[in-house]
Amino acid sequence: MRRKTIEIGYNEYSNINELSEKQQNLIFAARKAVKNAYAPYSNFKVGAALLMEDDSVISGNNQENASSPVGSCAERTAIYWANANFPDKKIMAIAITSLDTEGKIAKHLSPCGLCRQTLLETQQRFSSPIKVFIDNRDHILEIPNIESLLPLSFSNTSLQ
Ligand code: THU
Repeated sequence: MRRKTIEIGYNEYSNINELSEKQQNLIFAARKAVKNAYAPYSNFKVGAALLMEDDSVISGNNQENASSPVGSCAERTAIYWANANFPDKKIMAIAITSLDTEGKIAKHLSPCGLCRQTLLETQQRFSSPIKVFIDNRDHILEIPNIESLLPLSFSNTSLQ
C-alpha cells in the first residue's frame, strides 16, 4: 500500500479591493446577475460571471423548475450559453456569488458536483486553466483551476 496525498492551494481575500480591477468587475457582474435568478423553490439565488479571453463578461444565474431536477445552476447556465454562442472563445475565470433566503451574500458557497464536472470539461476543451472566484459574505476565495475543485476526476482521458 502506498499513501498518496493531493494538496490544494487557494487564496483567501478578506477585502475585494485586494483583487485587480478586472477581477473585481467580474465579481460585480456575478452580483448583478444574482438579482435575476429564478429560485422560487429554494429561495437561494446564485449568480455567475465568466471572464472570456477577449475580456468580455458573460453571466448567468440559477433557473429552477417545479420539477426540481430540470433546473439549472448559475454556473451551467452561463457556461452553456458562452459555449453555445462563442464556441471558440476561452473562458479565463468564473466568479460566483449567492444570496441566502434573507437576501444576504451567503456565508459558504461552493459549486456543486455537476458544475465542477462541467467546468472541467470546458477547461479541457480549451486546454487553459479556469480560475474560480467564490464570493462569500466574509471573504473571497480564488481557486487556481478546476482540478483543484475536482481531484481524481473522470474526464475524456478516462475514456481512452
Ligand atoms: N446552485 C447554483 O446555482 N450554484 C451552486 O454553485 C450551488 C447551487 C443553485 C441550485 C438551486 O437552484 C439552488 O442553488 C439551491 O440548491
